[in-house]
Amino acid sequence: MNKPIVIQGAMQVEIASLVAQLDEVVVETAGGWTFWSGLLGGVPVVISRTGMGMSNAAAATALAIERYAPAAVINQGTAGGHDPALQPNDLVLGTRVIHLGAFQSPFRDAGAGSDTLAWRPLDLMDQSESAEFTMPVPMSFDADPALLALAREVGYRAGRVVDGVIGSSDVWNNELDRIAHFHARYGTLVEEMEAASVALVCGQYGLPFLGVRVVSNNIVNGAAHDVSTANACQAFVTALLSRYQSPVAALLRPPLSAEEQA
Ligand code: 5AD
Repeated sequence: MNKPIVIQGAMQVEIASLVAQLDEVVVETAGGWTFWSGLLGGVPVVISRTGMGMSNAAAATALAIERYAPAAVINQGTAGGHDPALQPNDLVLGTRVIHLGAFQSPFRDAGAGSDTLAWRPLDLMDQSESAEFTMPVPMSFDADPALLALAREVGYRAGRVVDGVIGSSDVWNNELDRIAHFHARYGTLVEEMEAASVALVCGQYGLPFLGVRVVSNNIVNGAAHDVSTANACQAFVTALLSRYQSPVAALLRPPLSAEEQA
């Protein structure tokens, strides 16, 4: 049997339709995390409900990797728009995911207030043990090129599919200046609360990762929160999986042209 693909969603509504499609389901829990193993269109998968936020996502990812030895991890679900062009049901394929929750603030004296736009990104993966952990741009984790290429081939009717940067933190941002700052400086198209944490853990294990997020709300253009968009995202991931082949089959596929790789 091929190694499974782990497919994650934070909330039940973000994984329910995937779980409903599984054949030969085995349900397991560890702590507060539930995993549904089975076949999705014949492909071995483990659907994981991570819970919300960076810590829940990290723990669920480490547990899934240790317990199921997957070939790859796909983190999917809802997100809020940072780009005014994005509408509910539009989908962002994360070419990379960045960590928007690790910063060091410059010193400000008592009574001087807070200026989050001046905060400097922190490198949590710094191994140098130097006193200087800050860096010009936040920690960034690239999508696995093969998974990304596969995702780009998937048809999607509910909205547009765009490539771009997904930003993650434990903060739900509604301050338009802060959102504009992230969008302008780091190129974020959407924000959510799990993907960068999952990508960090996958990086620690050297495992392929892809983040796929559906726009469920966009404070930048006033689009109200519609959590039912989670279904379109799950339908997209189902279609992606139907194109997924074993690593051996992937080797037999013709290499991507320079155009496709660009
Ligand atoms: N900001 C942050 N997280 C969001 N989510 C959906 N929209 C947003 C947003 N605008 C997702 C997170 C988390 C839950 C609150 O919904 O990933 O799981």
